[in-house]
Amino acid sequence: MQEVPTPELGPGEALVAVMASAINYNTVWTSIFEPLPTFTFLKRYGKVSELTRRHDLPYHVVGSDAAGVVLRVGPGVTKWKPGDEVVAHCLSVELEDAAGHDDTMLDPQQRIWGFETNFGGLAEMALVKANQLMPKPRHLSWEEAACPGLVNSTAYRQLVSHHGAQMKQGDTVLIWGASGGLGSYATQFALNGGAQPVCVVSSPEKAELCRRMGAELIIDRAGEGYRFWKDEQTQDTREWRRFGERVRELTGGEDPDIVFEHPGRETFGVSTYVARRGGTIVTCASTSGFMHQYDNRYLWMNLKRIVGSHFANYREAWQANRLVARGAIHPTLSKAYSLEQTGQAAYEVHRNAHQGKVGVLCLAPGEGLGVRDAQLRAKHEREINRFRGE
Ligand SMILES: NC(=O)c1ccc[n+]([C@@H]2O[C@H](COP(=O)([O-])OP(=O)(O)OC[C@H]3O[C@@H](n4cnc5c(N)ncnc54)[C@H](OP(=O)(O)O)[C@@H]3O)[C@@H](O)[C@H]2O)c1
Repeated sequence: MQEVPTPELGPGEALVAVMASAINYNTVWTSIFEPLPTFTFLKRYGKVSELTRRHDLPYHVVGSDAAGVVLRVGPGVTKWKPGDEVVAHCLSVELEDAAGHDDTMLDPQQRIWGFETNFGGLAEMALVKANQLMPKPRHLSWEEAACPGLVNSTAYRQLVSHHGAQMKQGDTVLIWGASGGLGSYATQFALNGGAQPVCVVSSPEKAELCRRMGAELIIDRAGEGYRFWKDEQTQDTREWRRFGERVRELTGGEDPDIVFEHPGRETFGVSTYVARRGGTIVTCASTSGFMHQYDNRYLWMNLKRIVGSHFANYREAWQANRLVARGAIHPTLSKAYSLEQTGQAAYEVHRNAHQGKVGVLCLAPGEGLGVRDAQLRAKHEREINRFRGE
């Protein structure tokens, strides 16, 4: 750990004492300097104004999730005050341009806090814009409250929002990595919304986690040995068909209305193939490679759509957090590390050796602290702990 000066507080900003944070895949990207060193983002942001210049530093405090307590607020902040218990979502926008005033994700100065900006959540103190703040779900501990933020908001926009796939009851939704960060929330949204998730995972343990969430249709891609690529250049369309037949076998002959995509290159061809006629492939990432290849005949002849999605606007993040606060969506925390062990925690996620979400205790001296509504917690204790093992 390294000590760095506390940044000056600007208008519309807040300083938060971070009790807990979580690992997201963007911290993996930062740590391996792929696809770009994140110092490039800080340099670019630093050029926007006198205030943003504070972010362009020779160190990067990373992390895009936080649960904590507001310490101080800057000029113009009226909705939050010192002592408020909060979680922070990671959308940073300037909103000086007209383009972002319909959907803030369209602001030309849209950035992911703690990835494309400095002073993120994997620290004892974080600097946020006040419009990143949301009430901390009162029935959760600090580390449980910190872990849904980024992935829950992203999955909400990608799957539920009218900006994403607009899932409706009865839809069949194919979810890659269904027990992972994004997937464990997508699976819950599908089940809550009356849809039928087809969960893809890579081990019997991960399949069991999907069952605990209430999913019944599960494909173990490792166990069933799918190899969608014959070599670096050539996809195996017979494997697409085998996978599609397996989906139909599980669903009683139906193809997915929605494919929840994020693995990217390795799966995008089969995702485009298996979506039903008129269906939607909604993508927010490319973990296995961003140069996708798919057979366009399956897309246009069958009137499918590919929709790009990225994080969420404040309202979408608020709605997603509200569902957590009401006990309708549950954290999928499997393990919590100390701040000193953050490197190891990110490495686990990089190796895909984790389940659900991996938390990080920052100022919280131990796990299980910060619960304010014991009654609501007691009602959902089992669901809250389902990624914790027996
Ligand atoms: N645009 C955004 O706003 C946004 C937001 C959040 C995340 N992301 C991105 O989305 C990706 C996933 O994030 P996450 O938090 O869900 O990560 P995660 O916790 O690592 O989960 C991803 C899951 O995807 C599955 N997977 C990985 N590689 C795969 C492959 N080649 N083929 C099939 N399945 C594969 C794995 O599940 P199994 O091994 O069980 O199949 C893994 O658990 C990352 O690239 C991240 O940067 C983007």
